[in-house]
Amino acid sequence: MPSMASNTSDKTKQLNGTKLDFFGRRQKIEQHRKALPIATVEKRLLEEVSKNDILIIVGETGSGKTTQLPQYLFNGGFCRNGGIIGITQPRRVAAVTVAKRVAEECGVALGQKVGYGIRFEDVTSSSTRIKYMTDGLLLREALLDPYLSKYSVIIVDEAHERTVHTDVLLGLLKNVQKTRSLGSSDVVHNGHQKGENGAILEKENDIQSTNILKHNQGKKLSPLKLIIMSASLDAKIFSEYFGGARAVHVQGRQYPVDILYTHQPETDYIDAALITIFQIHLEEGPGDVLVFLTGQEEIESIERLVQERLPKLPESKRKLLVIPIFASLPSEKQMKVFMPAPVGFRKVILATNIAETSVTIPGIKYVIDPGMVKVRTYDASTGIEPLIIVKTSKAQALQRSGRAGREGPGKCYRLYPENEFYKLKDSTTPEIKRCNLSNVILQLKALGIDDIVGFDFIEEPDRMAIIKSMELLFLLGALTDSSKLSEVGHQMARLPLDPIYSKALIVASQFNCLEEMLIVVAMLSVESIFYAPREKLEESRTALRSFSSPEGDHLTLLNVYRASDEFLEKSKLVSSKEKAEKNLRKWCKENFINSRSLKHARDIHSQIRRNAEQMGLRVTSCGDDILLLRRCLAASFFLNAALKQPDGTYRALSSGLMVQIHPSSVLFRMKPECIIFDELVRTNQNYVRNVSRIDFLWLAELAPQCYALQE
Ligand code: CDP
Ligand code: MG
Repeated sequence: MPSMASNTSDKTKQLNGTKLDFFGRRQKIEQHRKALPIATVEKRLLEEVSKNDILIIVGETGSGKTTQLPQYLFNGGFCRNGGIIGITQPRRVAAVTVAKRVAEECGVALGQKVGYGIRFEDVTSSSTRIKYMTDGLLLREALLDPYLSKYSVIIVDEAHERTVHTDVLLGLLKNVQKTRSLGSSDVVHNGHQKGENGAILEKENDIQSTNILKHNQGKKLSPLKLIIMSASLDAKIFSEYFGGARAVHVQGRQYPVDILYTHQPETDYIDAALITIFQIHLEEGPGDVLVFLTGQEEIESIERLVQERLPKLPESKRKLLVIPIFASLPSEKQMKVFMPAPVGFRKVILATNIAETSVTIPGIKYVIDPGMVKVRTYDASTGIEPLIIVKTSKAQALQRSGRAGREGPGKCYRLYPENEFYKLKDSTTPEIKRCNLSNVILQLKALGIDDIVGFDFIEEPDRMAIIKSMELLFLLGALTDSSKLSEVGHQMARLPLDPIYSKALIVASQFNCLEEMLIVVAMLSVESIFYAPREKLEESRTALRSFSSPEGDHLTLLNVYRASDEFLEKSKLVSSKEKAEKNLRKWCKENFINSRSLKHARDIHSQIRRNAEQMGLRVTSCGDDILLLRRCLAASFFLNAALKQPDGTYRALSSGLMVQIHPSSVLFRMKPECIIFDELVRTNQNYVRNVSRIDFLWLAELAPQCYALQE
């Protein structure tokens, strides 16, 4: 049949075309790999790893550490006997994008030889030998496999970031390595010699610990290679911590970067950044722009503002491509930053501080640095852990400007006067010194490490913070009177959530409204479900009203999720899955809902629902019984309760702080007598966000450990 024949030949042509592209791209990738600074020291690095059980590698960002070293090790035989090379990253975006890149470099499908694991997503298989993951995920894996026996090499990447997970991991790995070098699992565990059989946890009826024991008892363990990688020059602290471990330096390439400052301090750095973007675009030569912002909300608002102003430029000047990158961006969107812009276009990448060192983006010539960063802080005296926007450190400012000089000379626009730079702190305080430790303590305890103060931290957390965090766990029922993990505590440790959220799920299963709470927790886990562009404030408010519940934001979020779910299901009945997803995005836009955040929440929901089911929690719905759901919210979030004061502000009951309901809340005007809230944001005021109305008397009834009424 002629038509068939011509069809086939067309197909062949097409295939050949893709094949050619494919080989072209592979060749390019090979060239790129060979040109990386790290390629010249491949052999030396392999020798160093063979000779040293612990090695510290310091190297400029972009020299090829993260993408190349695991491949060198794989080819150098470090996966013999099925061992896996694990690489931890402080950020999920880095784990995902690097894994994708390395899979491509190796010419394999993602999830086969090269894969990744992050909270709520596992893209690995039994054939995975190079696994990128977040530092938090490896900590979780240690709960099920305390000796991390499937790994032959563990690389702790971006160690200079000093996230709390990295710090804890370093302590844990130090001991795992010691144990494994002794060859058998029934010797020591994390410095705690316990019981005749090397019992890790003391409670005999503890199911999880028994499993760990059965799993590992008498198991032959092979030695573990440990590599600590860092971008900053300060290797000493790591070397000292590991008993004088060897440190090597990988030279990078750095071209000169012109640093420009403003004459005056900027009152509105968003506006200043926007003006600078257009100034560069209109006045400077070719090259992409990287703008450092503090979070998703800022990024999305600048993204919209640029899009709005572009049509006002002359036609020939409109070739500007805006690309966001932040932690919770769905992974399919994250790779966009690495793609070259179409010919004639300039890319403007709007990034959080993930672009400082975690992800290396090619093509950047201009950096705009407003000098701000969002950090979580912890005030042990009040137990409150607000996210605040603070000035960067000098080290961060230098890292940021360095991004402009990777491929040639560049320019960095610091949106503050020069004398401000010299006033900045030298480096960022490690997270462990400024965060709530309840999650970490819960995990350490679940690993059988009861003596938190005695744990070998690279830098000790504040005693007061440890005590406060233990107190919080105690109030949540996770610890017994003797500070051991309770049954509920063990359940909480199994969930990949903040202790308060984990507890909320457990409470909800007892209240018979877990179905609803899973949705609420998933929605609370993402940043800004709603968006309200300045110029469409009224329209967005009207849209919000159709979902809003007089009971508060938790029920409002539940309404949004349910409405979107209903819309998607209906849409799927008449169109394909892709079309239905597209329709949903349109629906989101019409309703001023952030479709990225909603998608993320849907993913989280399905994962935690699976977790809950695996744990045997009962997933039932309370139907229309809103009162029950509100009581459950009070029973779950009682630590964040606040009472109205005569002047209309609120007093947070556990901390005594004076707070106000955030203007984005549906209860902003209603101001009920008693509320629970999800988080406290500190700008010029103390605001509480995601607020629901409760009855004050419920607190004493549902959380007597905190609010027992005095007789
Ligand atoms: O870890 P380090 O900062 O030393 O470098 P890397 O992340 O291994 O990046 C090495 C090179 O790979 C850089 O030139 C990046 O631009 C490139 N890369 C890429 O093109 N796409 C990615 N997804 C990741 C890296
Ligand atoms: Mg790296």
